[in-house]
Amino acid sequence: MEFNDVVMKRTSIRKFKDDPIPLKDLKAMIKHAGMAPSVNNSQPWKFLAVTNKDKMKKMAEAVNLKIDEMMPDVESEKMKNVKKAVEHFSTFFVDAPAIIVVLNEPYEAVIDKALEKLELSHEEIDKLRNHPNIQTIGAAVENLLLSAVNLGYGGCWLTGPLVARDELESILKVKAPYRIAACVAVGKPFEKQKPKEKRPMDEIFKLVD
Ligand SMILES: Cc1cc2nc3c(=O)[nH]c(=O)nc-3n(C[C@H](O)[C@H](O)[C@H](O)COP(=O)(O)O)c2cc1C
Repeated sequence: MEFNDVVMKRTSIRKFKDDPIPLKDLKAMIKHAGMAPSVNNSQPWKFLAVTNKDKMKKMAEAVNLKIDEMMPDVESEKMKNVKKAVEHFSTFFVDAPAIIVVLNEPYEAVIDKALEKLELSHEEIDKLRNHPNIQTIGAAVENLLLSAVNLGYGGCWLTGPLVARDELESILKVKAPYRIAACVAVGKPFEKQKPKEKRPMDEIFKLVD
């Protein structure tokens, strides 16, 4: 597919056909994700592909349980609807053919060492540099999503499920220092979906003179 078509066609897909994704396609998406730029070329990622339905159900149950704990005794109609939406947007991955769980490991940049001499903590340095490790993961996830579109799939980036991050890490046996950074649900779109309206050029771009 033409690069422009891939980018313009990508939109978040939350309803999928049941068709399984061949391993070679999953690997192609991960290959492209791993080509993303990363702070200091740290490549601080690993990608788990979950296709086992029992495991996906366990993950969704853990997320629902956590949402229940966070929003107990919801009584008003409005709050019930909010809770339902939160549940849906955090657990629809359960019906996807695959969920790719993106793991992130901490990194230490060369500049960290220099800045340590100024007695700044790792957290302060990280804040000063505006969280390069997290930005790095974003680059990988976007590559993954575009790769999915290029292969005829669709996907959705999710951080909603991370409310149950500890529980998900235990289900997926994620070992320190890795932590779950994001999830991506992927599969063939259930129906054709029009990309969302995006903000116009003159609103988002300014040529600095
Ligand atoms: C960091 C991040 C986290 C997101 N988390 C969720 C999520 O938990 N659940 C969900 O349904 N969509 C999630 N999304 C998808 C956004 O809702 C979606 O990208 C946005 O509405 C724009 O729509 P589009 O992707 O179709 O252009 C997330 C997107 C990003 C970038």
